Amino acid sequence: MMEYVYLILSAFLSVSMTSETFDGMEGEAFVIKCPKWSSSVQVTWYNMDTNKIIPTEEEGSRIFSVNRFLWFLPTSREDSGNYTSVIRFSNNRTKSFNMSVQIHPYKQGVCFPSQIHYPNDTGRGKIVCPTIDNYKNATIIQWYKDCKPLQGERFFMGGKYIFIHNPRKEDNGYYTCQFIYTHKGNVFNVSATRIFISKEKPSPLPPQILFPKNNDVIEVEVGAAFSLKCRALLGIRKDPLAVVTWDVDNIPVKHLDISRFQEKTDSFEGPEHDYYRETTLNISKIKEEDLQANFTCVVLNKMQNTKATVTLKRKAKCLQ
Ligand SMILES: *[C@@H]1O[C@H](CO)[C@@H](O)[C@H](O)[C@H]1NC(C)=O
Ligand SMILES: *[C@@H]1O[C@H](CO)[C@@H](O)[C@H](O)[C@H]1NC(C)=O
Ligand SMILES: *[C@@H]1O[C@H](CO)[C@@H](O)[C@H](O)[C@H]1NC(C)=O
Ligand SMILES: *[C@@H]1O[C@H](CO)[C@@H](O)[C@H](O)[C@H]1NC(C)=O
Ligand SMILES: *[C@@H]1O[C@H](CO)[C@@H](O)[C@H](O)[C@H]1NC(C)=O
Ligand SMILES: *[C@@H]1O[C@H](CO)[C@@H](O)[C@H](O)[C@H]1NC(C)=O
Ligand SMILES: *[C@@H]1O[C@H](CO)[C@@H](O)[C@H](O)[C@H]1NC(C)=O
Ligand SMILES: *[C@@H]1O[C@H](CO)[C@@H](O)[C@H](O)[C@H]1NC(C)=O
Repeated sequence: MMEYVYLILSAFLSVSMTSETFDGMEGEAFVIKCPKWSSSVQVTWYNMDTNKIIPTEEEGSRIFSVNRFLWFLPTSREDSGNYTSVIRFSNNRTKSFNMSVQIHPYKQGVCFPSQIHYPNDTGRGKIVCPTIDNYKNATIIQWYKDCKPLQGERFFMGGKYIFIHNPRKEDNGYYTCQFIYTHKGNVFNVSATRIFISKEKPSPLPPQILFPKNNDVIEVEVGAAFSLKCRALLGIRKDPLAVVTWDVDNIPVKHLDISRFQEKTDSFEGPEHDYYRETTLNISKIKEEDLQANFTCVVLNKMQNTKATVTLKRKAKCLQ
């Protein structure tokens, strides 16, 4: 009895908890793939609405399974529904994956489904045509942006990619590749869409130290804690190569190994993506010797470097 319960439980536990959705266009070739696969497993596909196994290809079949793949050649509106792929390992353990298929009716001027399931491409201008690797020997016919054919000197087609030269904000949008796939002499259209969001490069400017001013003399109280802050404008957009640090008598604080000195850097972007870094030198307790030292904020980026040196002086005693 216990064994029986255990068997039922393990059968349930082997069911994958994910349900993926795939979007296709009416009248096109469409293939979905079992998320997990290896050459040693056997895959069976089911239509969950009819509870029937989807057989392998026969003469004239429109929907058929080829191991890991489930093909629709071509799709029809009524193919929308739930499908399951069950993989069986050599020890007879099984695992199943529910997949939901949405076939979008063809409408003039609408070239992409409203829900896009291919991940966004946030990048530098090389967009890959989604799913094309599932179709052997497919040929891209045309790329579209927001349903309009893409053309212009800034766009090049190459293999399964479209390249955008110097992508900018206006290039953000829905990119659709349309390609043809030939199966046993029959030619099918396929289209697949993804969102592209351009990621512009940082552009460094000659760095400017906003504070402190060079040769500032700052009043401190010997024995107390004190924080020296240095803020610099470094250019447009986050620049990982920019540096703002403190030197004490020309030795970087991180090489000093004096526990009284602690350095910490923050960075932030302004409304126009102007990029700042601010480094705080925390002195836990001011000593007499600090009044003789030069504290230099050193700022550098790809373009140039600049510095500002300050000194400390004893705060004038308040005479009340
Ligand atoms: C998969 O789909 C079947 C039929 O719709 C359902 O009974 C089962 O609970 C689903 N499994 C998961 C993990 O969603
Ligand atoms: C597919 O399954 C989901 C839940 O798993 C259900 O809500 C939906 O109605 C099913 N779709 C069809 C077309 O049967
Ligand atoms: C797997 O199942 C088949 C048929 O149900 C059976 O003949 C075979 O012995 C099983 N193999 C293992 C390793 O349990
Ligand atoms: C993709 O971009 C769209 C539009 O900007 C946004 O609504 C969506 O949340 C993004 N999806 C992901 C996974 O980042
Ligand atoms: C690939 O497609 C091209 C034209 O689309 C065709 O000439 C060629 O024979 C095909 N190659 C294979 C291996 O099917
Ligand atoms: C593929 O699409 C093109 C243009 O959208 C159309 O002219 C052609 O008839 C389509 N071919 C098939 C086989 O549907
Ligand atoms: C601090 O800087 C001043 C001016 O550059 C220089 O004359 C002085 O020697 C420096 N002091 C130390 C301790 O390096
Ligand atoms: C910096 O010093 C202040 C006191 O002036 C202290 O509260 C703070 O914790 C210190 N921060 C770091 C990172 O050492």
